Amino acid sequence: MSKYNSREGGVTLATVLKRKADGLKLSMVTCYDAAFARLVDASGVDMVLVGDSLGNVMLGHDSTIPVTLDDMIHHSAAVARVLTRPFLVIDMPFMTCQVSVEQTLANCTRAIQLGGAQAVKIEGGKAICSQVTALVNAGIPVMGHLGLTPQSVHALGGYKVQGRGDVARKKLIEEAKSLEAAGIFALVLEMVPAALAAEISKALTIPTIGIGAGPDCDGQVLVLHDLLGFDDDFNPKFLKKYASLGKSVRDALATYDREVKAGEFPGRAQSFLE
Ligand code: KIV
Repeated sequence: MSKYNSREGGVTLATVLKRKADGLKLSMVTCYDAAFARLVDASGVDMVLVGDSLGNVMLGHDSTIPVTLDDMIHHSAAVARVLTRPFLVIDMPFMTCQVSVEQTLANCTRAIQLGGAQAVKIEGGKAICSQVTALVNAGIPVMGHLGLTPQSVHALGGYKVQGRGDVARKKLIEEAKSLEAAGIFALVLEMVPAALAAEISKALTIPTIGIGAGPDCDGQVLVLHDLLGFDDDFNPKFLKKYASLGKSVRDALATYDREVKAGEFPGRAQSFLE
């Protein structure tokens, strides 16, 4: 028996593709551990991404560049052990799919086999098309990622909106079409103008999943800790916070600290009286 949940009866690749054909939206969130995976599983969310954003969110790095394949596998495996329904995608970290087709196949084999995910996500356009085709031919579904690709932050000169201006716009449309032809099953569009994301979504038969790409993508993805409001100071234009967990956690911890120091916790209710 596999050490990962089979997710039998859950969201499949076919479900994801059919959703676009039926004109229905897809929801996706990131997740990095079993505790949150259980909560995401109980929601209606269709897809879970073990994003390399775990570098920032979980590991305290200031970018995704230091994240290793071992980091990704460690977190993906934790999610995969408990997730029962959503389609699980693992992000391929910095330079694991950019060097050669052979290295890409070897790295993605480890990610799927040890991380328990059902698909990989790779940042990049035309330059990674032969890797995409090789993976798809080998039976590994691939999600693309264009626009702001955080692993290229140094080349892009910061976390900025991409695809502005005619040249950049055309390039992004071409890259999206090339990735679709190479075999990706879905495409993340990060921080691109809403009109351009709408144009790409219309031009492709596979679903686009937007983050900072307006309302006309076929689905949306957000970083779980961002949408739950962990960080009061992180307020990019594209983010909507659906909770204020940062404040709730701080308040709970401050109350616990005060009650312990005042001798109020534990009380009789939390004590074994005989
Ligand atoms: O790593 C990540 O969380 C991502 C999403 C923002 C799409 O790539």
